[in-house]
Amino acid sequence: MRRRPATRELSVQPLLAAMLAEHRDEIIEVGVDWVREHSDDLRGRRPRSETLALVQREFEVYRALILHGDPAPRAAFIEHVTSLRAAMTFNISTLVRGFLCFRHGVMHVVERHETVTLRQRLELLELLDDAYLETILLMTDVYTDKLKGALRTAQRELLHKEKMAALGGLVAGVAHEINTPVGVAITASSLLADRVDALRAKFDDRSLRRRDMRSFLDDAREASALTAANLRRAGELIASFKKVAVDQSSEERRSFELAAYVREVLTSLGPLYKRTGHQVRFEAPGELRVHTHAGAISQIVTNLVSNALTHAFPEGQVGEIVLRVEQGPDGGARVEARDNGRGISPELQARVFEPFFTTNRGRGGSGLGLHIIHNLVTELLGGEIQLRSRPGEGTTVTVSFPTSAPEGAPA
Ligand SMILES: Nc1ncnc2c1ncn2[C@@H]1O[C@H](COP(=O)(O)OP(=O)(O)OP(=O)(O)O)[C@@H](O)[C@H]1O
Ligand SMILES: [Mg+2]
Repeated sequence: MRRRPATRELSVQPLLAAMLAEHRDEIIEVGVDWVREHSDDLRGRRPRSETLALVQREFEVYRALILHGDPAPRAAFIEHVTSLRAAMTFNISTLVRGFLCFRHGVMHVVERHETVTLRQRLELLELLDDAYLETILLMTDVYTDKLKGALRTAQRELLHKEKMAALGGLVAGVAHEINTPVGVAITASSLLADRVDALRAKFDDRSLRRRDMRSFLDDAREASALTAANLRRAGELIASFKKVAVDQSSEERRSFELAAYVREVLTSLGPLYKRTGHQVRFEAPGELRVHTHAGAISQIVTNLVSNALTHAFPEGQVGEIVLRVEQGPDGGARVEARDNGRGISPELQARVFEPFFTTNRGRGGSGLGLHIIHNLVTELLGGEIQLRSRPGEGTTVTVSFPTSAPEGAPA
């Protein structure tokens, strides 16, 4: 009676080793035929010599794995194949087929061996299946990692492109915006220069009369006031442009209690709303510790409150502004500014985040406020911003962001 082997290796490993040594070329040939017949991808359309080379390599890979438990050649092979197709056209089915053709070749040889018992055959199959399963899992992990890497790279590139495009738009917008006040200042100052020349001529030929002098003084006053106002406006635009560009990256993260911080910012804004008659309330159901960019939070709160004060309420109407700090359902932080003012029409809602979009042009609005907030929230805080509004029913802006800000804004 045959003694039952203590371990599987004892009975079937030497048998497999002998078969792989003796029938190497045949197993490879059968594998190549099988794979060419069953592939409609690249491997099937390759010259036979190339497929042969690949299958030979796979033969060694799986021999090392199954007979000697050495996974290194397999890992190197997977790495090799997945790197070859760095363009991500690589299919995991190619690698799967590679293993199957090895298995097919081995079983083809086994079936011809009458000396192989049924039990040995089953054990062989089990051995091959184990290796197959483990290999598939590994391939999937490697492939997923590569896909993730490619996705990350693509995202980074996209973000960079978007940023550059946004910056391009911003620069063009700034140039356009600054052009107007600077143009007016130039016109006014050259007008003044003309008037000075005319005055001087009259003075020189002693024809200067009291009336000329008075009219000159009026014109000169108007021209210089116009010049100063427009240069100031240009200066403000440049200052807000600098804010967009600089503030985002200049500030470090720090740990602080969000509710107390926002309350402080709100208090410091008192002079903006104290005498307006508007009710400004602060709400926070609890404390919330965050590790993020305090300066950005302050900028966001300031802009939101100032927007509500500037845009929400028509002259003479008294309203309510509520600033709320709480933990969102996802565990992140949430800052919300709500007013019960005139609201924003759906058509305008789509545009308020654009740089330089303002309904307050000529009265101090540059249209950069919400654009800056949007950039700060999405790029620096790693969060998102939502605006809900209906004409006549007020506006709510909700800013949600992780309690721990991403390290370093994306380059
Ligand atoms: N709370 C609000 N209620 C009604 N309209 C608003 C509110 N907040 C913003 N808006 C609208 O969105 C536009 C864009 O706002 P944004 O803060 O970007 O620019 P701005 O306030 O006009 O100018 P800036 O903030 O640069 O001084 C505003 O001009 C206004 O029409
Ligand atoms: Mg604003």
